[in-house]
Amino acid sequence: MPTTTTKTAGGAGSRAKTPLLDRLFDYVAEAHPRSLRGLNEARSQDAQRFAGIAELYLDWLVKARGEEGIDAAADAFAQFSTDVNLAQARYERDGAYANKTFAEVYKDHYSDAEAMDGYLWGIYLTNFLWAHHYQIMTFFQDRFMTRLADDAKLVEVAPGHGGWGVWALAHMPGAVLEGYDISPQSIQIANSVAEAAGVGDRATYVEKDALDLEQVEAESADGCICSFLVEHLEDPQHLYKVISHLLKTGGVAFITGALTAAQVDHIYEYRYESELVKMCENAGLRVLETLSANPYRTLPKAKFMPRSMALLVQKRANDLY
Ligand SMILES: C[S@@+](CC[C@H](N)C(=O)[O-])C[C@H]1O[C@@H](n2cnc3c(N)ncnc32)[C@H](O)[C@@H]1O
Repeated sequence: MPTTTTKTAGGAGSRAKTPLLDRLFDYVAEAHPRSLRGLNEARSQDAQRFAGIAELYLDWLVKARGEEGIDAAADAFAQFSTDVNLAQARYERDGAYANKTFAEVYKDHYSDAEAMDGYLWGIYLTNFLWAHHYQIMTFFQDRFMTRLADDAKLVEVAPGHGGWGVWALAHMPGAVLEGYDISPQSIQIANSVAEAAGVGDRATYVEKDALDLEQVEAESADGCICSFLVEHLEDPQHLYKVISHLLKTGGVAFITGALTAAQVDHIYEYRYESELVKMCENAGLRVLETLSANPYRTLPKAKFMPRSMALLVQKRANDLY
């Protein structure tokens, strides 16, 4: 990669050329200066690798949304991060998530097209701009992607913006992916990201409730991606069973979930990492590896530490293995 000396809000120095990332940092410095510290925390973990991943995601964003897409997504990211912080403060006060039922969340959130658009593009950026989520991205790339063959058949449950599955397809030239999400905005955005990444002919997205996926052919997937859905359901155990249903024996899944981390659409309050592990085991999934990550900074004297957990699991052949 060619290098150049660039001066941006994130700091100066000689490093790989990252015009889109520089533009994002400059825009955030100007429009959302309070968010800049977090961005620098994410980048400082492994500047070169971070830059490669971020530039790729931003390239797809610009191809999908045009040049102004970076600023709009940065606005959505700042709004989303603020909403999450407010929800966490309320959770600290009340000791429980604000919403209890899927119906409430669907009515107020998933069915609101405009809100979902900003929400999904905001989350797209959190994948690498929140330092602890960037750690989960490297787990996905190093531990999950490397286990799959180049022609793997993938299923993505609740792709949202589609970034995870599209990233996998970009690495596996013969792989195909079917994605299922309840939100029409997700289907539209995920399609646009797949097209932007040049993998649109290998990705199909369908509007469907994840809990109905037992209708999809059993044991048909080599790999399954299900990121940040388990905490959005009233009965997440059922979802792990769906994932197990979809996977071939020996197939692997990347699952992530939020623990004691409030958000407008979080319903199921996981408190311990072992709860996710147990739900996997109950569904016939062997837990191979886990990563529990938390933000660099949390509320002073917080009762709840917001965490994001990633699990790499494998479909077992029988009760034991
Ligand atoms: C927090 S986003 C996660 C997006 C993406 N997977 C990620 O990790 O960034 C949650 C996604 O779950 C979808 N969703 C919520 N309930 C669902 C359900 N019952 N079936 C399918 N998708 C659902 C939402 O529409 C949204 O796209």
